Amino acid sequence: MKTVTIGLLGCGTVGQNVLTLLERRRDIFDDIGVRVEVAGVLVRDAGRPRDVPAGTRLTDAPAFLQECGVVIEAMGGTERPLSLLHPYLRSGRPVITANKALLAERWTELREYALAGRLYYEASVMAGTPVIGPMSTVLRASRFESLQAVLNGTCSYILGEMERGKEYAQALAEAQALGYAEDPPTLDVGGFDTAHKLTVLARFCADGDFSYDAVQVRGIEHLTLADIEEATDAGERYKLLAELRRGPDGQGWHAVVAPRRLPITHPICSIGAGRNALMYQGEECGELFFAGGGAGGMVTASAMVGDLLDHLIGFPGHVPLH
Ligand code: NAP
Ligand code: HSE
Repeated sequence: MKTVTIGLLGCGTVGQNVLTLLERRRDIFDDIGVRVEVAGVLVRDAGRPRDVPAGTRLTDAPAFLQECGVVIEAMGGTERPLSLLHPYLRSGRPVITANKALLAERWTELREYALAGRLYYEASVMAGTPVIGPMSTVLRASRFESLQAVLNGTCSYILGEMERGKEYAQALAEAQALGYAEDPPTLDVGGFDTAHKLTVLARFCADGDFSYDAVQVRGIEHLTLADIEEATDAGERYKLLAELRRGPDGQGWHAVVAPRRLPITHPICSIGAGRNALMYQGEECGELFFAGGGAGGMVTASAMVGDLLDHLIGFPGHVPLH
């Protein structure tokens, strides 16, 4: 049996579930002859009691990273994770991350490691619903035409609950309690988290260097119950929609995140509150539809542990367009 030493950055909604899942699915690691050992878990407050497996080493000091073969990042933010991951990636070791803000905004520093197959980030878009995997592999053979997607679980939850008559503030508080929201939730309701995710996706189908600044962003903060009701009466639903297609005259790319009214018969309207969906149009592959959980601790952890398995089996990370 080979031992692989993991370092985990963050033990919140996602990190805690990564630890739980590593324990729960020890059998699949046994099957490939690997014993996973968690060398340390980085947090801000190491003294706070947490629901983690016995013997977990919680610390606010990242020195344990030196001894790790793989780092799993679930802490959020951009500066701090980048400062921890950069030297680690430079040393040739792999990183698994759910951090779409980091990927979208600090691509210049990360791109070479992604191209080298050392960055794994399935969890960063639609959590455990696989879209980055297909887009970084089989879908490349087909010429990309457009995509439309609901990529934020918090907004999906809020809009779904507002359709049931709940006030915006209460629905947001519930999404936070479910562990869906970012810190701060302005990232979700302002559309920025969706723009981060659209940026990550665009690098597989449009331009390997697609810039976060190229996305036009508008959020859902100003939608009222009256707006939602008016849409319902017209047989429509509000969704915070991410869209990517060729610009006018086939030049460049048009990338927009904004609230849109869609007819209730639209496939994207079939998803429940809190869920995500993506419609992908390629010339040869035709229209594809992906839907499922897009936020929450365990569904996100499932993609991160899946990435770890991919790495251990020998698959490279998610390689953007060259
Ligand atoms: P969270 O619940 O706020 O957990 C963050 C964890 O990171 C906490 O344990 C925190 O320590 C630790 N941390 C934060 N800043 C730190 C610092 N400067 N030094 C040391 N530790 C630090 O966040 P989360 O919801 O798990 O999300 C984590 C990441 O996953 C984010 O990038 C998020 O965008 C992404 N993500 C989240 C979801 C979701 O549904 N929640 C889904 C997909 C992707 P303390 O516990 O001591 O405060
Ligand atoms: N805050 C994010 C969301 C977490 O609500 O979709 C998943 O990326």
